[in-house]
Amino acid sequence: MSPFPQRVFSGVQSTGNLHLGNYLGAIVRFVELQKSFDCMYCVVDLHAITVPQDPIALKANTREIAAAFIACGIDPKQNIVFNQSQVPEHAELAWVLNCVARIGWLNRMTQFKDKAGKDRENASMGLLDYPVLMAADILIYRATHVPVGDDQKQHLELARDIAQKFNNDFSESIARNGFGEAFFPLPEPLISGPATRVMSLRDGTKKMSKSDASDYSRINLSDDADQIAQKVKKAKTDPDALPSEEKGLEGRPEADNLVGIYAALSGQSKTDVLGEFGGANFSNFKSALVDLAVAKLAPITDKMRRIREDETYVDGVLRDGAERARAIARENMNAVKDIVGFLR
Ligand code: TRP
Repeated sequence: MSPFPQRVFSGVQSTGNLHLGNYLGAIVRFVELQKSFDCMYCVVDLHAITVPQDPIALKANTREIAAAFIACGIDPKQNIVFNQSQVPEHAELAWVLNCVARIGWLNRMTQFKDKAGKDRENASMGLLDYPVLMAADILIYRATHVPVGDDQKQHLELARDIAQKFNNDFSESIARNGFGEAFFPLPEPLISGPATRVMSLRDGTKKMSKSDASDYSRINLSDDADQIAQKVKKAKTDPDALPSEEKGLEGRPEADNLVGIYAALSGQSKTDVLGEFGGANFSNFKSALVDLAVAKLAPITDKMRRIREDETYVDGVLRDGAERARAIARENMNAVKDIVGFLR
């Protein structure tokens, strides 16, 4: 048994629209976890600026993610909902962890290689350092469980390596300061949401993404019922009817994706969905999917729009969350200072 009290932490970047992939892959899980854990959900605006952001849009996007958390059912009183830049200890711990992490570890990160592209020398220093800040986000609260999409697995591994190296490098001081054998827990990823991989509606081999040029590739949490209906109707399919068994989805990425979305939204397995729709043509299946998607998402998107309009409320939630987060962060940062050998 780990000696650390259980705590969930996760972060979502404040860059642009949230879509169905974020919802089914992450946020549904966040909502579920609040039943059994103390949870902290953070809008990571410090991570957002690792690539250029328009300052006005950044503020709007931070509020939008916070509104989405609340609209999806995260209770900001029971949990802690806040934006990262209001808790300076994230950046403060990141500096210490920068001196623990190795350059070679960061050069291996696939997300950095993807985002930096060909001109790696010209990427921001922050983009290379992104995973260390992410480790600091988690470790400043000594969080034990981290729900993330499967694309974040490697970053979580790195956070564990950093925690482990800190615990080793400072083991004597950790013991001397009364923290026993290890100061940081090794945080565990929680990968499975109802649908870990929601794919583009235009290309079933690509992940649904906010950076896709076509808005028809994704269902945004800000879309209204008409937009949802249009996008589902236009979604790419193939000419065959739906199979009756999951095996029949092999080699049919678009069909597989739509069935997966239906399954996740209705809380069924793909097998159940195919039991009902096997043999149906896509136009019938799509009508059913439109009804389901609108029924499930419209109340959320409506609520989100209403919350987002009340800036005073949203800003108040984030400020209150940040204050509560800071109380925990400050205590842990003081311990880190003692362990590392800083006077305070
Ligand atoms: N990198 C994560 C993503 O893009 C966001 C993130 C930042 C995060 N800090 C975190 C996720 C800490 C979990 C825990 O999805």
